[in-house]
Amino acid sequence: MITVVGAGRVGTSAALQIAMRELGDITLLDIIEGLPQGEALDLNHACAILDLDVDVRGTNDYKDIEGSDVVVVTAGIVRKADMTRLDLLHKNSEIIRSVAKGIREHAPKAKVLVVTNPLDVMTYVMWKATGFESRRVMGFSGLLDMGRFRYLIREKLGVSYKSIRSMVIGEHGDSMVLLPRLTFIGASPLSSFMDESVINERVERTRKAGAEVIKLKGWSAHHAPGAGIAQMVEALVRDTKEVIPTSAYLDGHYGVKDVYTVVPCVLGAGGVEKIVELQLNDAEKELFMKSVSVIREAISQVKW
Ligand code: LAC
Repeated sequence: MITVVGAGRVGTSAALQIAMRELGDITLLDIIEGLPQGEALDLNHACAILDLDVDVRGTNDYKDIEGSDVVVVTAGIVRKADMTRLDLLHKNSEIIRSVAKGIREHAPKAKVLVVTNPLDVMTYVMWKATGFESRRVMGFSGLLDMGRFRYLIREKLGVSYKSIRSMVIGEHGDSMVLLPRLTFIGASPLSSFMDESVINERVERTRKAGAEVIKLKGWSAHHAPGAGIAQMVEALVRDTKEVIPTSAYLDGHYGVKDVYTVVPCVLGAGGVEKIVELQLNDAEKELFMKSVSVIREAISQVKW
């Protein structure tokens, strides 16, 4: 069974895409009465139309998450115009801590995939608050940022997504580190297809893509997050051993300790089964270390 905590746009998009991959029955949990039940009913109707033999259950009670293999956490508030990033950090830390308590009590064997922003910090808070081994607590965002970069490459070059390999590391935020040098079209480096100035422009647009979506449609992305979350859940449930950019706990990897940030990870039934250490050049290393320090500073602001 897969649990999704938070029945907002991101949670329900993720639930639908998880259902479409038939990874198991789904429990949708939210504190608002009626909301997860109503969304679950709607999702069950979608499953009936699509011939997906998946049961979706809506609940307000953590007892119902018992037996979950994976718990996806999308609960949290989004930043309002009058709020600072720090306000968001404090409010969502409280929410993450209360979700962690529910998971610890009712699904102590689950793997936890955090989606709430600020992503790397909230994943760290979840890890601390559950007390789980770090390999079972991880954050979603890398597939989203990498997907946005791959979109902008395909838009320019017209080659299939299947032939575009890339990677992203660091914070899910302004300091994210896209890696054009480690981006390949088939077996050739991206730089043999695109001028440096075009690559830089696409990197910059990727960094701002989340904000671009919000500005245009009035609220945050949810289709792309839903797609990426489902891919990560599939890796965990089906034990695929796929290498996916994941916010993971670094314990000396990349020369960094005691922080969560995005790095390539092998995902499988054990959670984060391996952290892959890329051969970064000096410029990439510098950007990554800067990004890590942004996250560290934010973690130091968390009130425990
Ligand atoms: C994004 C934000 C909301 O769409 O995390 O990237």
